[in-house]
Amino acid sequence: MKIAVIGTGNVGKALGGSLARAGHDVTFAARDEDKTREVASELGASAASTPQAAARDAEVIVLAVPYGALPGVATELAPVAKDKIVIDATNPLKSDYSGLATEGGPSGAERLAGPLADAHVVKAFNTLFSSLQGDPSALGTTVDALYATDDDEARRAVTAIAESVGFRPIYVGPLTAARELEALAWLNIRLQMLTNGSWTTAFVALNPPEAATMAA
Ligand SMILES: NC(=O)c1ccc[n+]([C@@H]2O[C@H](COP(=O)([O-])OP(=O)(O)OC[C@H]3O[C@@H](n4cnc5c(N)ncnc54)[C@H](OP(=O)(O)O)[C@@H]3O)[C@@H](O)[C@H]2O)c1
Repeated sequence: MKIAVIGTGNVGKALGGSLARAGHDVTFAARDEDKTREVASELGASAASTPQAAARDAEVIVLAVPYGALPGVATELAPVAKDKIVIDATNPLKSDYSGLATEGGPSGAERLAGPLADAHVVKAFNTLFSSLQGDPSALGTTVDALYATDDDEARRAVTAIAESVGFRPIYVGPLTAARELEALAWLNIRLQMLTNGSWTTAFVALNPPEAATMAA
């Protein structure tokens, strides 16, 4: 698939690299154009000068920027995101890492439905640390990619994408379930911070409903 990855940091590089190795046609964009070109060249992908340029010809757009940058990036992408699948891999962490900035309200992913009303938004990959996004087999077992969306087409695409890089996709519900996915990611992050952990912990479901692991 033609996939635009917005962000060339931990998540952009890790997930974008796995997607490129799986044979997807990946184009990166961020703010620093030199770094974007370096990352793209290192990972066998293309580079674009802006998020909008990267997304223009993409079928799928992956958002891998800090939460605070999301509204601006989403507004920039809106004109080229109509009917496209937008995967929100971000977590709405408070800047001091003391919790979620969205606590008690809609998830970060639901908030994207404002600027990206014409796109098919999916929350996915946010529960996986970049260590595993970049090396899905690092733990010697298949790791789950939990995702939430309202849209069947997006569900099919994310199922195919997750499987192509080596994750087991698990559909956990409509986009409102992104609240739980963001909370789960925060739980894992807090665990690592409390224990000075290895940032490789992943949630794996035992005996998930088969229907949740398949496309709609
Ligand atoms: N790290 C993890 O293990 C992990 C796992 C799951 C989810 N997440 C979430 O994923 C998101 C990204 O995390 P990260 O660790 O990859 O962060 P990061 O290493 O700081 O990378 C952030 C990237 O976003 C780009 N960026 C920032 N503002 C931008 C803007 N206005 N327009 C375009 N690009 C912009 C930066 O580009 P420049 O370098 O060009 O400025 C950089 O490439 C966060 O929401 C995080 O909570 C992280």
